Amino acid sequence: MTDDPARSVGPHARRAAVRDGYDGMAATYARERDDAEAAVVESFLAGLSPGDRLLDAGCGQGTPVLNRLPDGVEGVGVDLSASMLDLARDRTDAALLRGDLTRLPAAADAVDAVAALHSAIHVPIPEHATAFAEFARVLRPGGRLYLTAATDGEGWSGTNDDWLGSGESMAWSFPGIDRTREQLREAGFRVTDERVLADTVADDDGGAWTHLFARLAEE
Ligand SMILES: C[S@@+](CC[C@H](N)C(=O)[O-])C[C@H]1O[C@@H](n2cnc3c(N)ncnc32)[C@H](O)[C@@H]1O
Repeated sequence: MTDDPARSVGPHARRAAVRDGYDGMAATYARERDDAEAAVVESFLAGLSPGDRLLDAGCGQGTPVLNRLPDGVEGVGVDLSASMLDLARDRTDAALLRGDLTRLPAAADAVDAVAALHSAIHVPIPEHATAFAEFARVLRPGGRLYLTAATDGEGWSGTNDDWLGSGESMAWSFPGIDRTREQLREAGFRVTDERVLADTVADDDGGAWTHLFARLAEE
């Protein structure tokens, strides 16, 4: 892992690097992605009712959210990477759209729930607030958000030139966890629960992610 240089990479180049990285390593990531978070995902999905709509922001290969939608729940997956969406097509009947977390291809108040598992961590730090504002825009008042974020307080941005041995470079951008909580509040969310779960995908041992559950204010 390499820290970003003091003069940081611009958001446009960072987004393109993430997209190209996932386009090149979609199959590797999908193979490595395990079901360790399944019980937590299922408990979030259990709060949905038939007729509800869920948007999976950064849905990747269509697991672990879109492939477990309860009967009658309509899903839409949004992702930057065409190769990841190609994989998702084999795992879900949800609508799948190319798009960006900071400009979601969905109308205001269109969905009851947004999931963003391990995706906002790739959005350039100056754009995290915009992504959270987008989650708030597309959610109905009182709608629910499930977001994973970095656990440490410091924040970090940098790259790995050979992530998961794929030969592809990948970039991450984490504000600290307190900043993430603050930005969620500023976007109109109230965090209702948090869980820290081990990172079972990374090359290095001992990492963890914070799983945040939040509710958008009612009007
Ligand atoms: C680590 S994968 C996670 C995939 C899936 N949500 C999961 O939990 O396994 C991150 C996904 O987020 C997508 N992504 C990263 N930045 C994005 C952005 N700005 N807008 C949309 N998707 C993005 C990537 O293309 C990739 O498919």
